[in-house]
Amino acid sequence: MAQILNGLTLSRQIKAEIKEQVALLAAEGKKKPHLAAVLVGENGASKAYVNSKVKDCAEVGFGSSLIKYPETVSEEELLKTIAALNADPDVDGFIVQLPLPRHIDQEKIIMAIDPAKDVDGFHPENFGKMALEMETLLPATPFGIMTLLERNNIETQGKNCVVIGRSRIVGRPMSILMSRKGYPGNATVTLTHSYTKDIEEYTQKADIVITALGDPLFLKGDMIKEGAVIIDVGITRVDDHSEKGYHLAGDVDFKSCEEKASWITPVPGGVGPMTRAMLMKNTLLAYEMKSRND
Ligand code: GUN
Repeated sequence: MAQILNGLTLSRQIKAEIKEQVALLAAEGKKKPHLAAVLVGENGASKAYVNSKVKDCAEVGFGSSLIKYPETVSEEELLKTIAALNADPDVDGFIVQLPLPRHIDQEKIIMAIDPAKDVDGFHPENFGKMALEMETLLPATPFGIMTLLERNNIETQGKNCVVIGRSRIVGRPMSILMSRKGYPGNATVTLTHSYTKDIEEYTQKADIVITALGDPLFLKGDMIKEGAVIIDVGITRVDDHSEKGYHLAGDVDFKSCEEKASWITPVPGGVGPMTRAMLMKNTLLAYEMKSRND
């Protein structure tokens, strides 16, 4: 029976550590870290994510601001806002919540963000630094998974790690981080995706499986090997007859995998809360990097 990789408990611990550091800054008479979020449109999941980020800021003692635009906002207007956030000395980091409406060029928006304030780690400069093992801001979900492995002392060196999904936010950075030198890392990584044939041939040989697919209950117990570490990044809203009208489902069939795995993340309470905590961590890191350069 697997041990639970409890992201909720660890995220609370990390937020408590950040809160302590913010209190130390206050005691030294320094300004508090400030995170800004830009939200475009009315996407329910995006609104929920952004609101929870603002709430997390209050919890750890950061300042925060939320800049909302209607779906019809122009690319030019958004670029102006980004330029203002880049120039604002009180803002240590900011995010532009994705996805953006189709009339806005996402690449152009990401490229406009000052890499030093890119607490999502999406800017090519930060992504490149990550791949080259230089100090940088890591994307929050992969950073959260690395921290979950590290704080639970899970061995990664020489292990076969299979990542499912090659998104720029999760799968691809995850594959790079797990193959980097050091700990957690030094793994032999296979990045699988929609064109991979016979995916179970890979997952059955994996010591660590990281799924970021968005396909509820995709990974079944017969697809993994005994003692595997299972990390579930999927969070899909599945309609049901509950009061909310939906529930959150991961990529992993927890029941059948739990019996074979050595470690497994639950959904909810696994990777999700870690992602939120790591955005706070990145904001503090951006603040610290700026203080060092001032
Ligand atoms: N949309 C889904 N996940 C994320 C994220 O981590 N950051 C941003 N900015 N948008 C997202």
